Amino acid sequence: MKTSPAPPLHMACIMDGNGRWARRKGLPRTDGHTAGEEALAEVVRQAARRSIGWLTVFGFSTENWVRPRTEVRHILSLHRKLFSRTDEMNSNNARTKWIGRPFSESGARTPVYVQKAIKKAIADTQGNTGLNVTVAFDYGSRAELVRAAKRAMTNGPVTPQAIEANLYDPQMPQVDLLVRTSGETRISNFLLWQITGSHIYFTERTWPDFDANEFAKALASYEEHANA
Ligand code: IPE
Ligand code: IPE
Ligand code: MG
Repeated sequence: MKTSPAPPLHMACIMDGNGRWARRKGLPRTDGHTAGEEALAEVVRQAARRSIGWLTVFGFSTENWVRPRTEVRHILSLHRKLFSRTDEMNSNNARTKWIGRPFSESGARTPVYVQKAIKKAIADTQGNTGLNVTVAFDYGSRAELVRAAKRAMTNGPVTPQAIEANLYDPQMPQVDLLVRTSGETRISNFLLWQITGSHIYFTERTWPDFDANEFAKALASYEEHANA
């Protein structure tokens, strides 16, 4: 018999394959990103409905800035759209969070209009008490860890606890289930510290095709592994 409820699950997604999805359909890559943003909205609904406490998604990496300008511009405007889904977040009782290179830090590249959208989304959803949805934008795990180590060092010995206290979001729990779509079996600079011990689910499906059924499959894979 269970004596206490299981802690809420942390699911993280490397949303890969938007470009391939578009190519398969003979569409421009930008259409793949648009479809990917819709798929994310569905994943948020699914997560809110289930026993997920934290959903962290890789929206744009520190490495992605080298992509063609038009593609980057499209992805930026999709993030403004994503961060503007306040009514949906409120109806899901979900809180918006963000991790990435702090706006004032040298090297940080989040444009001001996206910064504003991020700040507004966080403020407008902070009263919600259910799912935490963290979008990683201008995020790279190596940059996060270098910063955490530097900050830890100014305050005493560098220990795992000190690193953890200096991550972008020290409240973020360890990841339980990491999903990567599109058949790539790599991590690509995402949450390297936080995925220690997490179950990894790889699927051939491209991100825009990651639907409720795929979501259930990923969760089932985790549950099978966790109960083994
Ligand atoms: C993921 O899809 C979205 C981002 C990295 C922003 P991709 O754009 O990487 O799609 P593929 O990998 O080229 O198919
Ligand atoms: C990882 O996808 C980053 C995001 C999903 C934002 P990429 O498509 O950028 O990763 P690599 O370059 O293939 O490893
Ligand atoms: Mg890719």
